[in-house]
Amino acid sequence: MQSLFDIHCHFVPGVDDGADSMEESLWLLGREYEDGVRSIILTPHFRYQMFETPMEMVQERFDALCEAAEEKFGDGLRLYLGCELHASEDMAEKLQARERLTMAGSRYVLVEFSHSDNKSYIMNHVQNLCMNGYIPIIAHVERYAATRKDMDFLWNLKKAGALIQMNADGINGREGFAGKSFAKKVMREDLLDFIGSDAHNRTDRFPEMGKCFKQVSKLMGEDYARHIFIDNPAEIILSLED
Ligand SMILES: [Fe+2]
Repeated sequence: MQSLFDIHCHFVPGVDDGADSMEESLWLLGREYEDGVRSIILTPHFRYQMFETPMEMVQERFDALCEAAEEKFGDGLRLYLGCELHASEDMAEKLQARERLTMAGSRYVLVEFSHSDNKSYIMNHVQNLCMNGYIPIIAHVERYAATRKDMDFLWNLKKAGALIQMNADGINGREGFAGKSFAKKVMREDLLDFIGSDAHNRTDRFPEMGKCFKQVSKLMGEDYARHIFIDNPAEIILSLED
């Protein structure tokens, strides 16, 4: 069994549209554990007018979950707190003022865009984060018209300093044939950095990282899969020691 990472999920109870109780959060963590996941960055949404849960509350609930998880899994599961930050003009400013969370306290920031944001909007926000010393990880690139239709644009984002994340559901085929073939293309062109579950609940958006690891190993080889599911995410945690 591999020690996989999941760097995108909504398991902090009652702070966004993810897990709505401690019981559900523990169920989700249990599912990850069975799948071979041993390190998880939990990334509750922050998005103006939709998810503005105060940071103190997010931290409090995360701490309570860590305590419950330790009882259940001992030290077998490492949990870190992050955020899925919806892009906004004041994003870098708020991060610098420590009013928003980066990934596990590192310089990496999981940034989400709206489905129809255009290329220059996305590029401007990536450049702004990089200029301020952050490393943007663009969440689920399969969702945006701008990134889905133009591989050159994805390359340009990477050249500008962004890293690329896709959701396991796309690769597992839960989002249809088009999603799967886009995912293959991104992997074969060596554009991908991370896969996250983006799991929200135990009913229709649950994590399947183990299945996805097998799929990626089959498509791209196990070395590639280890790179995406283990080595790259480990860099985020290792960067904390720099
Ligand atoms: Fe998400």
